[in-house]
Order: sequence, then C-alpha cells, then structure tokens
Amino acid sequence: MKILINAGPTRESIDPVRFITNHSSGKMGYALAAAAVKAGHEVTLVSGPVVLAPPAGLKEFISITTAAEMAEVMKKQFPMADLTILCAAVADYRPKRVSEFKLKKLPGGLTLELERTEDIALTLGRMKRTGQLLAGFAAETDDVEQNALKKLKEKNFDWIAANRVGIPGSGFGSDTNTVKLFAADGTVMDLGSELKTLLAERMIRIIASGKNKGEDGN
Ligand code: PMT
Repeated sequence: MKILINAGPTRESIDPVRFITNHSSGKMGYALAAAAVKAGHEVTLVSGPVVLAPPAGLKEFISITTAAEMAEVMKKQFPMADLTILCAAVADYRPKRVSEFKLKKLPGGLTLELERTEDIALTLGRMKRTGQLLAGFAAETDDVEQNALKKLKEKNFDWIAANRVGIPGSGFGSDTNTVKLFAADGTVMDLGSELKTLLAERMIRIIASGKNKGEDGN
C-alpha cells in the first residue's frame, strides 16, 4: 500500500525572527511512518520542523515549514496515496501580515491580526476518490469523542483517532498517547493509553487492512 503521512507542527512567521507554532514534536506521526515501513508499505512522510531523524526505509521524506507549504505538498502527493494519515498539527491561523523587519518593542501591548489557513483535511476529503482511505486525528481537551465524530463527518475521513490532549502523558510532546479510533461505518476501537510506537503499530494494522471492520488481532 502507498501510505502518505504528515507529522509535526507548522510555523507561521510574524517577522524575520518570530513565529507562531504549537507543541507537536512529530513523535506520533514519525511512529506511524516507522510502523508503516515495518509493515512493508511504501511510505511518504511530510514533516514540519522537528528534531527527530526521519525513520529508515521511507520512500520519500519532504520537509515543510508553513501550513501553506504543507497544503501544497499534501495536495500534490494525495492522488498517489492509497491511505493518507493526517497527524500533523497544522496551524489554523497565521499572521495576516508578515513584517519584513523585526518588530520593535514599544510601550504597551501588541495586537496581531490572524487569518485562517487552509483546512487541508477538508480539501483532501473533497478530493478523495473511491478506493482511497483518509484518516485524521482530533486533538481535543474536552468533549473528545463528540468533537472527533464531528470532524470524522465534516472532513470525510474514513477513520479518526480521537486524541485526548492537555493531560500528562498524552498528546503533544510525550512518548505516550491516548487514542480511540472511530470509523465512518460506526466501528469503534479504544486503543487506550500506550507508547506512541505501539499505538502506531496497532493503528497501521487496523487502518491499512483496508477494512473499517474487524479486530486487529490484539
Ligand atoms: O507530534 P506529537 O508531539 O507526537 O503529538 C501528536 C499530536 C497530538 C500532534 C497528534 O497525535 C494529533 O492529535 N494530531 C492532530 C493535531 C490537530 O491539529 O488536530 P485538530 O483536531 O486541530 O485537527 C483535525 C484534523 O485536521 C487533523 O488530522 C489535522 O491534521 C487536520 N488539519 C487541521 C488543521 C488544518 N489547517 N489542516 C488540517 O489538515
């Protein structure tokens, strides 16, 4: 199977020395890419800026910085993929204007005007053709399942990993994560709290089986 995965954060510049980003380390996405390679798939990994080394055995590794670059690469790669997994924490907003010069400190506060970035998942969900599988994550601090199910439908995902974030040992930056999988056909699999590497292996086994139903053997 040809698998396309994105991982890590994006960076949205404010001026030549400052940017807006988030706490994504890339660990979950890189673990998914490594698990997919290990399972014998042909894997392309598109990554925002992280300190991790790309897993061995990738077909292609593409490095991006901004949400706009991520969108451009994903739209180009998506038609070739049998399965796409959107694990990146793409910025939802970027500064409306990027200052050419370093902003000077002035008395008082500073208000930044932000504009929306492209919702890549929404775009790919609309591009999806029969036979392609699209999976995403929902990073949520509250109403985790309800919000995940809303995103599953809105973004035309086949699978969504409801990911509890904002608690120790789960989500951004940690080696472990808490994931519950929901499929468009109503299948639910609670993978619990586990090392990201182990969760990734289970997720690849389940999602890359090409079916929305059935057990993963564990
Ligand atoms: O990188 P780690 O430190 O290991 O942390 C892993 C993780 C917490 C980042 C990861 O497990 C995770 O939950 N990734 C999704 C983060 C996110 O942006 O979730 P969201 O609920 O805001 O977005 C929903 C889906 O839309 C995601 O699949 C996201 O990739 C996608 N999206 C979001 C915004 C956007 N502009 N374009 C998108 O494609």
